Amino acid sequence: MTLPPHAPDAPVQPIFELIEVEQVFEVPKPGRPLFSRETVGLRALDGVRLSIRKGTSLAIVGESGSGKSTLLRVLLGLDKPSGGRALYRGKPIGEARARGTGFARDVAMVYQDARGSLDPRMTIGAIIAEPLRHFNIVPREGEAARIAQLLDRVGLPADAAERFPSGLSGGQVRRVAIARALASEPSVLVADEAVSGLDVSTQAQLLTLLQSLQRDMGLTLAFITHDLGVASYLCEEIAIMYLGRIVETGPTDAVLKAPVHPYSAALRAAAPQFFEPLSEPLPGEIPSPLDLPKGCRFSTRCPVAQSDCQSKDPQLGKLGSGRAVACIHPITQA
Ligand SMILES: Nc1ncnc2c1ncn2[C@@H]1O[C@H](COP(=O)(O)OP(=O)(O)OP(=O)(O)O)[C@@H](O)[C@H]1O
Ligand SMILES: [Mg+2]
Repeated sequence: MTLPPHAPDAPVQPIFELIEVEQVFEVPKPGRPLFSRETVGLRALDGVRLSIRKGTSLAIVGESGSGKSTLLRVLLGLDKPSGGRALYRGKPIGEARARGTGFARDVAMVYQDARGSLDPRMTIGAIIAEPLRHFNIVPREGEAARIAQLLDRVGLPADAAERFPSGLSGGQVRRVAIARALASEPSVLVADEAVSGLDVSTQAQLLTLLQSLQRDMGLTLAFITHDLGVASYLCEEIAIMYLGRIVETGPTDAVLKAPVHPYSAALRAAAPQFFEPLSEPLPGEIPSPLDLPKGCRFSTRCPVAQSDCQSKDPQLGKLGSGRAVACIHPITQA
């Protein structure tokens, strides 16, 4: 029997669903002779499975080069994955994006380089007016009031509308980027390192703001961060990436309290104090994505690797309680 979408026990369709998504970039072959055009495939995403439910907040965590921004570009429909399926409300993301302004209005982005994403020649008011006009959110006569409302929502004074980005601090610029993202009245906010590089108190203020926006407006949030403290403060769910694959996912508290993937455990151990720089780097070098280890990609750095880890490539599999792990010998908690 097919249930109508509003039936109480109909399965809830996720906002985003990634099924075995892969993203391979053709890059120059290392050491190729001058003038040779030889390329090799760099697997930036490999077998990524992810589902983002409406109204949840998801942190995407992992070391530099693990594929977080590549994953975000797929979610935003900026890049088509080279393999697998990437769906937005059940439809391929590329199709959803091409169908008109619905997707662009509904899914807003806060970029890592907030200052670089704002035109220095435009006032803050003009910057926020752009999406208001583009998506026809308010009639022209209501624009100034809506800009003041959005500035107030992100904790900026109304006269900030007259200023230029160069006259604002790093924290204020991030607030403007958030106000601009909210202008189209999106239901999904995607952010790449939106609070990194700020002092701790500015970071805390922005996290409080994002948390209240998420709660008050029922936003779905996908948030890239290096910082487990940021993930645990802001996000109900966490996805931990390693060399292009999600190796562990589940409710943030449960995963960080009792990680079952040795990589998640190592990340957790390297950050005993949230919101502080990592106490020590993870042991060993991260392998090149051009030369992935055989079997499990974490086996070369894994403190509990066994011989079969070098031959079997574990896929993300369900554990129950909303958790999943890609490991042949997951950590069992005492
Ligand atoms: N357009 C591209 N062409 C070739 N390689 C790319 C491209 N974009 C990303 N990569 C490679 O894909 C891998 C994942 O990169 P990505 O930027 O997604 O990592 P990240 O997790 O966001 O890292 P960071 O924390 O440093 O931002 C890296 O090895 C990167 O060099
Ligand atoms: Mg990145």
